Amino acid sequence: MALKAAFIGTGKKREKGTLDGYAMAYTHADAYRTIEDVEMVAVADISAENGQAFCDYYSIESLYPDYSAMLAEVKPDIVSICTWPHLHEQMVVDAARAGAGMIYCEKPMASTVGAARNMVSVCEEEDCQLYFNHQRRYGKSFGGAKKLLDEGVIGQLERIEWSAGNLYDYGSHNFDMANYFNNETKCDWAICQIDYREESLAFGQHIENQALALLHYENDVWHVIMTGEGAGAIPCHHRCVGSEGVIELGSARGALTYRTWGDGTWIEVDTEGEGMHLNSYIERAITDAVSNFQTGTWSMMNMYNALNATEQIFACWESARRRARVDIPVDIDDNPLSAMVDSGDLQPAPKPAE
Ligand SMILES: NC(=O)c1ccc[n+]([C@@H]2O[C@H](COP(=O)([O-])OP(=O)(O)OC[C@H]3O[C@@H](n4cnc5c(N)ncnc54)[C@H](O)[C@@H]3O)[C@@H](O)[C@H]2O)c1
Repeated sequence: MALKAAFIGTGKKREKGTLDGYAMAYTHADAYRTIEDVEMVAVADISAENGQAFCDYYSIESLYPDYSAMLAEVKPDIVSICTWPHLHEQMVVDAARAGAGMIYCEKPMASTVGAARNMVSVCEEEDCQLYFNHQRRYGKSFGGAKKLLDEGVIGQLERIEWSAGNLYDYGSHNFDMANYFNNETKCDWAICQIDYREESLAFGQHIENQALALLHYENDVWHVIMTGEGAGAIPCHHRCVGSEGVIELGSARGALTYRTWGDGTWIEVDTEGEGMHLNSYIERAITDAVSNFQTGTWSMMNMYNALNATEQIFACWESARRRARVDIPVDIDDNPLSAMVDSGDLQPAPKPAE
C-alpha cells in the first residue's frame, strides 16, 4: 500500500520567492509525485486560498483549515511541514504524537534552540524519523567537494570557511554543509560578534545584519564565518582548506574548483551544470529520505545533523550576547538575538519602506 503523505502549510506559488514566502511545499510535492510508493492525500493550511490552489495544482482532495484535525482523521505516514520556523516545533510534536512515521520539515529547525532540542527528543520518544530540508547536500557541486575531501585530494582538512547573508536563515544550510564536509563532527566552542543596526526579518525571525564567527571543531578543524556586509571577505560559498590544497564552491571561477599546493593551478570539476541552488536537490533529498524511511535507516537529512547545525547557530548568537566565547552545546534554550531585541539590548532601526 502506498505511503500517505500530507502537508502542513502550502504557501502561495510565485515566480520567485522572497524572505516572506517561497511556497516550499510545492518543491516537496514535486518530489513526492515522482515517488511511486507515495500518495499525496491531504493538505492543511489556515489560508483557504493557498490550500485550495495547492490542492488544485496537485489534484489533492482533502483540505483542512486545522492541521490537528487533518492529522487525526487522515493519519498520514509522512508529513511535510512548510510553515515558518516559529511554528515548526508544535507541528512536529503534534505530527509525531499523531503517529506519523516520517516528518520532512523545512529549515531552519526552530526559532529557539530549546524548541529544536525538544523536537528531536519527542521524535525519539515517538519513533518518528524527523528530517530537515538542508537539500544542498544533494547538489553535485557539494557532493563533488565531499568526494574530493574523502579522496584526500587536499590532504588533511584544516579549516572550513563560508560566507552568507546571515547565520540563521541561509546560514542554516551553510553550517549544515560545513558539518557534512567535516563528517558531522561537532564544534566544542564558538566566538562571534554581530551587528544588528537595521531590522531584518526572514520568515518572521530576526537575522543579524553582519557577523564574524570562529568555531572550533572537536577534531581541531577551524570553522570561520562571515555574514552580511563582510561576506565578501570569503568570496565564495564554502572554502575547505587542507594540508595539501584548497577547494572552493561558488567562486567567480565556477561551482567547484580546487588547487593543490603543488603547481597551484585551479582545476574546475564538472558538476554537470549544477551550481549552488536547484530544486532538483530537494527532489533527491526527499526521495532519499523516503527510501531510508522505508528501510528503517536514516538519510543524512536527519534531525541529529540538523541539530548539530542549529546548536552552532544559536551558540554564535549567544557568544554575541555574552560578549564571550561559549561552549557548545550552549546552556540556553532561547533565541539570543530575539531576546536581545526584546530586552532593548539591541535596537535595530525600522527597515526603511521600499
Ligand atoms: N530549503 C530551502 O532552501 C528554503 C527556501 C525558502 C524557505 N525555506 C523555509 O521554508 C519554510 C516555509 O517557508 P515558505 O516560504 O514556504 O512559507 P510561505 O509563507 O510561502 O508558506 C507558509 C504557509 O503556511 C501557512 N500557515 C501558517 N500558519 C499555519 C498553520 N497554523 N497551519 C497551517 N498552515 C499554516 C500559510 O498560510 C502559508 O500558506 C520556512 O521555514 C523557510 O525558512 C526553505
